[in-house]
Amino acid sequence: MTSSDTTPAPTLFTWEFATDPYPAYAWLREHAPVHRTTLPSGVEAWLVTRYTDAKQALADARLSKNPAHHDGPEHARGRTGIPGERKAELMTHLLNIDPPDHTRLRRLVSKAFTPRRVAEFAPRVQGLTNDLIDRFAATGEADLIHDFAFPLPIHAICDLLGVPREDQDDFRDWAGMMIRHGGGPRGGVARSVKKMRAYLLDLIHRKRGDLGDDLISGLIRASDHGEHLTENEAAAMAFILLFAGFETTVNLIGNGTLALLTHPDQRDRLQKSLAAGERGLLETGVEELLRYDGPVELATWRFATGPLTLGGQDIAPGDPVLVVLAAADRDPARFEHPDTLDLGRRDNQHLGYGHGIHYCLGAPLARLEGQTALATLLTRLPDLQLGVPVDELRWRGGLIMRGLRTLPVTFTPRT
Ligand code: HEM
Repeated sequence: MTSSDTTPAPTLFTWEFATDPYPAYAWLREHAPVHRTTLPSGVEAWLVTRYTDAKQALADARLSKNPAHHDGPEHARGRTGIPGERKAELMTHLLNIDPPDHTRLRRLVSKAFTPRRVAEFAPRVQGLTNDLIDRFAATGEADLIHDFAFPLPIHAICDLLGVPREDQDDFRDWAGMMIRHGGGPRGGVARSVKKMRAYLLDLIHRKRGDLGDDLISGLIRASDHGEHLTENEAAAMAFILLFAGFETTVNLIGNGTLALLTHPDQRDRLQKSLAAGERGLLETGVEELLRYDGPVELATWRFATGPLTLGGQDIAPGDPVLVVLAAADRDPARFEHPDTLDLGRRDNQHLGYGHGIHYCLGAPLARLEGQTALATLLTRLPDLQLGVPVDELRWRGGLIMRGLRTLPVTFTPRT
């Protein structure tokens, strides 16, 4: 018996847990690696915390993404943390469907996200990053979530989709409403989702007569060429790209910057490497930041379609299964010194982007945005410091995502 065998089970989903869930995840990995719990919403679900079980679950075809398989109370169906899920029109998005529909829809958009296509987008991301830093560089202080991490991805995705620049501030407001209030079915969120859906359907109509080389035009072309893409599917696709690519990237920049500011040795190492004109440490570093404190704490919902055994636990048909990516990525059975931030880590097959057929479609874009944002911040504001003590920072405490509410920083003003 080790002393930890007598440690009491941690209480999940409290304020302390939201601030630092890693000790609780270490306990679960050791004592209850596939653990049935009641979520704050009242829904019962299994939490999977070991790396090997997590990887297996993410690739297991018996775990469906379709909420119709949930054998819970009617009110709990569709509570998968994605606003608008109750709106049937937006249900048919990639994270909610299984093959063969998933295969067909994913094939249609995957062309837009190849590393080559995304690389063409690099100058725009760099331009956006510079513009945002220009706005606060002379003041000596900023809230990096509000002033930087939040606007960057929304404008990047809007550009990629082909949302005209003059409409992008509306998107910012709708997305802001969603991120502030999470995925709950509250009034403001529901209204924002409704407005976004109406806008996207209207944009699809308008673009039909004037196709460009943006992603929405690409989706329209695909649907016109008999690829069986309905207008609702196109709107749902645009919606999931916005939704999946937005708060995740906000949190990559937020959590990543915080980890650098609280690990001065690693931050110095990266600044020296950037000053020498190298890219290698930036690339491995962003992967390590995803592993160490990634944006997606739990993968999105999965539901057992038949009986299955996972990590020695029998899962009944209809049971929801949540794979805890944040716990799997700190598993000492997979990663050497998992609680140490090492920007040069090589053996780093983390699950921050998921695994299997739902592996993050936007990973090349997320990497581009994360690398550009962090490198530019550290280069242009080299003495960046936290503006408040670390224990005063507040985390959002949502179920799926892990991210900060604000990230106040100070630095020497620059013009
Ligand atoms: C799926 C993480 C950025 C689009 C996923 C999944 C994860 C993830 C973990 C799988 C979820 C599951 O299996 O339940 C991240 C992280 C990001 C990021 C950590 C930023 C650092 C983006 C961006 C986009 C995007 C920028 C696009 C603009 C998607 C889409 C899916 C997805 C469409 C669903 C794929 C499918 O079901 O086939 N992402 N993501 N993501 N992501 Fe990302």
